[in-house]
Amino acid sequence: MPGWTSIVRFFMLAMTFMAMGPLDTTGPAAQSGDDPAGLDSLQATSPDGRLRITLSTPAGQPTYRASLDGREVIGESRLGLRFSEGADLDTGFALSGVERASGEETWTQPWGERRHVRDHHNEVVASFRSVSGPDRSFRLRVRVFDDGFGFRYEIPDTGERAIVDEITEFSVPGDATAWWTPAGEFNRYEYVYRTTPVSRMERAHTPFTLRLPGDGPYLAIHEAALVDYSGMWLDQRRAGKLEADLAPRHDGVRVRVDGAFNTPWRVVQVAGDAPGLVNGSDIYLNLNAPNRLGNVDYARPCKYVGIWWGMHINAYTWGSGPDHGATNKNTRRYIDFAAEHGFCGVLVEGWNIGWDGDWFSNGDLFRFAESYPDFDLPALADYARERGVRLIGHHETSGNISNYEDQIDEAFDLYERHGVRSVKTGYVADASDLKFIDEDGFAKYTWHAAQERVRHDIRVLEKAHARGISINAHEPVKDTGLRRTYPNAMTREGARGMEFNAWGSPPNPPEHTAILAYTRLLSGPMDFTPGIFDLMPHGEDDENRVPTTLAKQLALYVVIYSPIQMAADLPENYEARPEPFQFIKDVPVDWEESVALQGEVGDFIVMARKDRDTDDWYLGAVTDEEARTVTVPLDFLEQGRNYTAEIYRDGEDTHWKTNPYPVTIEQRSLTASDTLTLPLAAGGGAAVRFKPAGRAGK
Ligand code: NOJ
Ligand code: CA
Repeated sequence: MPGWTSIVRFFMLAMTFMAMGPLDTTGPAAQSGDDPAGLDSLQATSPDGRLRITLSTPAGQPTYRASLDGREVIGESRLGLRFSEGADLDTGFALSGVERASGEETWTQPWGERRHVRDHHNEVVASFRSVSGPDRSFRLRVRVFDDGFGFRYEIPDTGERAIVDEITEFSVPGDATAWWTPAGEFNRYEYVYRTTPVSRMERAHTPFTLRLPGDGPYLAIHEAALVDYSGMWLDQRRAGKLEADLAPRHDGVRVRVDGAFNTPWRVVQVAGDAPGLVNGSDIYLNLNAPNRLGNVDYARPCKYVGIWWGMHINAYTWGSGPDHGATNKNTRRYIDFAAEHGFCGVLVEGWNIGWDGDWFSNGDLFRFAESYPDFDLPALADYARERGVRLIGHHETSGNISNYEDQIDEAFDLYERHGVRSVKTGYVADASDLKFIDEDGFAKYTWHAAQERVRHDIRVLEKAHARGISINAHEPVKDTGLRRTYPNAMTREGARGMEFNAWGSPPNPPEHTAILAYTRLLSGPMDFTPGIFDLMPHGEDDENRVPTTLAKQLALYVVIYSPIQMAADLPENYEARPEPFQFIKDVPVDWEESVALQGEVGDFIVMARKDRDTDDWYLGAVTDEEARTVTVPLDFLEQGRNYTAEIYRDGEDTHWKTNPYPVTIEQRSLTASDTLTLPLAAGGGAAVRFKPAGRAGK
């Protein structure tokens, strides 16, 4: 399959447990593959033998638990599903059989935070058989990797049914520390992170990150391959018992199924330290199906600018009028700026009919193929392409998915005709107010992560792919690694981004990105839109400002992975500071390798990434409100090679609040045997480019 080539090694070895590999089975029936008498328990271990999952059925209830090096990391936790009609899958079961397999494969991403992804796991497919009454047998597929495990339910055909409750539990031992945002609230995923004991959490989004008592290990609970199902929130029942809580559909049930179905994978990452969570996050990609779109050469990593921040700081309007941002003149200005500085795209918001008045509630009025009279799409698209730039499209739906779907063919056709290859979508509406029109013509409202929206997103990706268009969704369904299957799903929002610093009251606190790296960003790329250079657009006294230093804005390009990355500020603010702007111009968006080197959740992170197209390495370090010095061994660089390091770091007296602008820019000659010491100011950061010495060119 183009773009997904280079399978280096692959074996899939199915075996019964008579021929045991790294997996053990205990219980009276360890001699056959499918024994109606039942097994007491089944175990599966990771390839390195450290992580162990045990399945059993105490009092007939399917359960699992997990340990790392013998220490319990997930206590006994129930498994099961309940339906609005017919038999539930919760009690009255015995383990009756097992199939085992191992997989080792390296596959290639068309774009990504690393080119080659290794998938090495052991698999157990456990059969749970009902011990009385009608047959309710189901299977649980468990995959155990060195850095986490996932399992999913595989349910045979029982016709049309509605799931009313998934009772999957995650029992957290002891009162761990958790970093989380509340789920089931109006503002979707866009909340300030909370750091609390797990016992103080009520209902949270995933990835839900925690540190077990006594300095770890660290866990992140999330899901992979969310397809035709509703997104999982975590609801705390008795202390430490987190239960899957599926986002409700418009009709109140959680999921409707018809025939045999698989649930998404329920995933627990397990790591000895916080960077280990970042480095182990390929597990979500590995639990998704390979590319089903085929050639996605149009989905190219790219840095872009846009008519966007100006609206958020009230310099322009989305709607028509004297301050309209999406005018021919302004768009040409942005295109010229993009061409001059090497950006490949110009996003334009507010170009189409529907933004006048209260656009948050205008979902019915948006016209996706009709521009305002002062925006000439064909002429501007030509103007851009003549300069080696492309327009980036924008479809704000204000949460009306039927209004969008009614026009989507025409809307994507228009963009395709004019060479637009990337579209940003938006679903601004309160979290339970996504509107659609049912078969009888009635308006219905559902949740942002409910099954109807999950299905809608796949329809959008398929329609976009048919026109060679990639998607950047705002107010999205959370990322669950689907970009492996649909590689035109290039990036998305799904947490508080930069825009909250323009109007968030309060803006994102200085620790925000030092939490994001270990929470939201585990799930995949984020269109955070970094690179604001005028950190106080409303003046020094306004609460809404960007609470970072300027150097930290640069560091975010390395810390936050997104294959399309915005330089979000106004052109004039970059023109005013050309020296630090150089880093934004240089930094790549597509990587050969990425590694989290150091960090602690909520405190700091040091990331290193290697460019896909050259031998350059980049480093980004960000800290929270505390100043700190990081000491980084450079052993990730190629041994024996000399590098010129271009360092952008906070100045001596830099502080996010009182003195955010000074950036010290210096060059040093360094090798893999050196250690780099970087002082980070309060709310600060550092960005470094390592260029092999003597290499010609930029
Ligand atoms: C919210 C998005 O996050 C933001 O980027 C966009 O500008 C507005 N919606 C308008 O679509
Ligand atoms: Ca948003």
